[in-house]
Order: sequence, then structure tokens, then C-alpha cells
Amino acid sequence: MQIEFKTFIDEDHKTLKPDFLSIMKERFNSVTNREDIGFFRLKDSERHIKECTDIYNKFSKKKYFIQIGIGGSALGPQMLIDAFGNQNDCRILFMDNTDAEYIQDVIDQIESPKEALFYVVSKSGGTAETVANFAIAKKFLLDSGVNENELNNYFVFCTDPKSGHLRKMANEENYETLEVPNDLGGRFSVFSPVGLLPALFAKINIEELIKGAQDYAQEVSTEGADHDLFTTGAHLAYLLKEEGINQTILMPYSSKLKNLSHWFVQLWGESLGKYNEETNSHTGLTPIPAYGATDQHSQMQLFMEGPNDKVLFLLEVVEKKYNFSLNSKINMEPAKDLENYSLNQLIKAQFNGTLKALEQRKRNVVRISIQKNNEYAMGQLVMYFESLTALMGEYLGINAFNQPGVELGKKFAYEYLKSLA
Ligand code: PA5
Repeated sequence: MQIEFKTFIDEDHKTLKPDFLSIMKERFNSVTNREDIGFFRLKDSERHIKECTDIYNKFSKKKYFIQIGIGGSALGPQMLIDAFGNQNDCRILFMDNTDAEYIQDVIDQIESPKEALFYVVSKSGGTAETVANFAIAKKFLLDSGVNENELNNYFVFCTDPKSGHLRKMANEENYETLEVPNDLGGRFSVFSPVGLLPALFAKINIEELIKGAQDYAQEVSTEGADHDLFTTGAHLAYLLKEEGINQTILMPYSSKLKNLSHWFVQLWGESLGKYNEETNSHTGLTPIPAYGATDQHSQMQLFMEGPNDKVLFLLEVVEKKYNFSLNSKINMEPAKDLENYSLNQLIKAQFNGTLKALEQRKRNVVRISIQKNNEYAMGQLVMYFESLTALMGEYLGINAFNQPGVELGKKFAYEYLKSLA
């Protein structure tokens, strides 16, 4: 993975000086060394891979794998499956909303319920959306002729190792379980069983995912404070403080990585959008999802000429797995202009053309290149963005690992429900 900064920052600014970068690194180390913050160490990966593989082997004949979860319990696996496709003949579906029309669509796709495995993922074990879909899945199975005492052939739970309602139920009723580790919050959990089991069902290479993430973490730990991670943080710090640039766009030039943007939106938004009690201020860097080249015909006009309050992470995949010749012999000017080129050359031209135009308009860009869209690169990207989130949380002086605002919404939703009774 390569990172290049195309930003309009005075090279002499203190945020780009070694002292500031060292402070960023120190703060990063102090947060990632904390016992309760595990995303950077990934210390239990080997065990998680083994436990997920055992569960996969037990249920590998299933024809449907349906993940029930929301937020961090769904977005990461969705991103992985979109990026690499499902290489298996087991359908992978998600019940990640409380929209009955959508849930009916999911259920309709399960043509043989007795070949379904539902993976109920909730760290807390009590999220309303997840519990509701668990209830629907259970009724669906019973209505399809599954006996109550056979349900543990149809459900696997993934939850807190010790506490919560799901854990209690699993212990009492003998369900197979995996863990959302104590030291990983939902949005940092894609490389735990939350994302690893669905990835296995899709025949994604989970060892390579973990290796990419661990190698990147190792690089951050061993290299100096001028590593790309800290330089990115320093650029964002400057742009926020000096220029008021508080919006962050992630725009991969890849349809396969479209959901990387959506995963990033949750990670960045839920982690950094916080009320800081000490300073009585509200902080956050608003994330905006986009993907190229499609969004060049949508949001790019705004990015190019709208308010200059955004930094764009443009991500290119250098080598694509497939290519198409555009030599069509179509007798039409625009087709003739393209006929000596390939589709990959076209998207590269669009990426570079946009980059140049953004530069001309003095828009701040971080250019990221990955050689191929593969599991190893995904591991690196995930670790880079998770680390950047933790780093920016430290810079902003907030707790990047909680979500009190979301909790409040959950509480009020329950109050509303009770008022309907
Ligand atoms: O990132 C987070 O912590 C949240 O988005 C959670 O993943 C989400 O609220 C679901 O919570 P739970 O896994 O407890 O059901």
C-alpha cells in the first residue's frame, strides 16, 4: 500500500515537524497499548481462526448463511464479501435492518430453510434490531418444520465471551458460540469472528486478511514517527485546525470496494463524532462515502467546486483481475476515441484526471494505491483506517471507542415502544 499527500500545507507548519509527529506516535502508542483496546494487537487471531474454522467445518454443508447483526456486527463482513465475492455455493445474506419489506426479501431467498444457518452477532447481546431479526428467524424455522429442540443446528451466536443475554441463552440452551472479544468494539471487530466466520463461508482467505493487518501494525510499531499513518494524522490535524476542513471522503476507484466506504463511514463517524465534556465542545470529522468512477458523475462536482471543507482519500487499485478491450469498431466518434485503449486504462485515466483537476482547484487529497484488490491489501487498509481513527480520537481528545449518542437513541426507542403498549 502506498500513500501520497497532495495537500496544500505549508511545509514549515508545525504539524509536519518531527516533534509533532513524535507526539502523535506517543499518543497512538499509549492508546493502542491499553488492555481494553485490542484492534491493533489482534492477539487472539490464531485462536479465532481455529474456532471459526471448527464451526465452519461443522456447518459447511449449509446452503444459506444468514448474518443477523447491525452496525459493526454487519458492515465489516458485508465489505469483505463485496470486495472478494462469494466463492462458495452457500448463499450469504444479511438481516441488518428492521425494514419488514427488506427482511421479507431476505427470507424469500431461503428456499430450503433446513439448509440455513443463522449467525446472530451482537456484542451486547441485546440490540433491538438484532433481537427482532433473531425472533423472526426463529419463527421462520419453526414454521418451516424445524423442532424447537433442534434449533441449535440452525443458529450460531457471536457475542461477549462472558456476559449478556445471548451468552446466557447459549449456555443454557447449548448453542454453538464464538466471541466478540472484550477488547474490540463492534466497528473495530471485522477481523474477529464477527467477520471471519462469514468470510470463511464465502471462501475468503482469512489468514491473508489477518497477515495484511498484522504486517501493517508491525510496520507502524517498528518504523519511526514519520510513518504514513502519523503523517496522515498530521495532515488531517492541520487541515482541521488551520483550514476548518472537517469532512472526510473515502473514494475507492472500484465497485468492489464501494462498501469499504460504508464501513469507513461507520468507523469514522461513530468513533470521532463526540461531545467533549472537558472542553464543552462537539467534535467530529464527517465521513462521506463515494466510489469512482461512478461518483464522478454525482458528487464530484460538489467536491471540486463546492465549499473547500473536505479532504479526499482517493484509492486506486493498480492491477485489476480482469480487463476489456474497447476496440469495438463502433462507428461513432466517442467509441473511436476509446478504441485503442482498455477499460483499465480508462479508469486509470479517470482517476489521474480527477486527481489533477482536484489539485488545480486546490482541493486536499490523500492518494492511496494498492497493487491488487486482495485479502492482504484489505488487511492493510482496514488496519490503516482503524489506526487512523484511534489516532484522530487521541488528537481530538475524545474517546473513540464508545458511542453514547447511539445508546441514547436505543433507550428512547424502547421508551417509545413501551408507550405503544
Ligand atoms: O460499533 C459499534 O460498537 C456499534 O455500531 C455496534 O456494532 C452496534 O450498535 C451493534 O451492537 P451490538 O453488537 O452490541 O449488537
